[in-house]
Amino acid sequence: MKRKISTIILVGFIVMLLSCKGDKEEKSESEVGETKKEVIQAEQLKPQAPPPINEVLAEKGEELFKTKGCIACHTIGKGRITGPDLAGVTKRRKLDWIENQILHPEVMVEKDPIAKELLATYLVKMPNQNVTPEEAQAIIMYLREKDSEAKEESEHKE
Ligand code: HEC
Repeated sequence: MKRKISTIILVGFIVMLLSCKGDKEEKSESEVGETKKEVIQAEQLKPQAPPPINEVLAEKGEELFKTKGCIACHTIGKGRITGPDLAGVTKRRKLDWIENQILHPEVMVEKDPIAKELLATYLVKMPNQNVTPEEAQAIIMYLREKDSEAKEESEHKE
């Protein structure tokens, strides 16, 4: 009987020890929580899922595509000229990336691996066209609209 009691005490003691250890683990868990929080915050800093196609903005973008000289070097679906064909560009690149390429092509070509690769292929550096961030958004909307139209067409063909 005595033995049993001392076993119970021992077990109790072990449980206590374990729960102390549990405290420490909790701490590290809350550290994990912190990191998780940071990751979530970083996620939130990223732009949200792109807004739906805005036709008015896309139309403005189409105009800018011509007036800002993009059209001199890029077609959309008519093949490569001085620069890459921009058909499908909103599918193959992140929208942020496209924005950076439009706003700071000279920096991208120095620092960004994809832009460096494009330069190696096209052997021309895209010049900075003095596009404002708002104008870049309109151009991106236009490119997105083109890509969604192209997708619909190919779906109709099937
Ligand atoms: C003088 C020619 C020229 C003009 C003008 C020009 N680009 Fe470019 N563009 C290029 C070249 C060359 C590349 C690829 C090499 C590089 O990144 O510099 C490129 C790359 C791009 C890319 C990346 C394409 C891909 O396949 O990932 C985008 C997007 C782009 N240009 C958009 C624009 C827009 C929008 C404008 C107008 C505001 C514009 N470009 C004006 C020559 C030009």
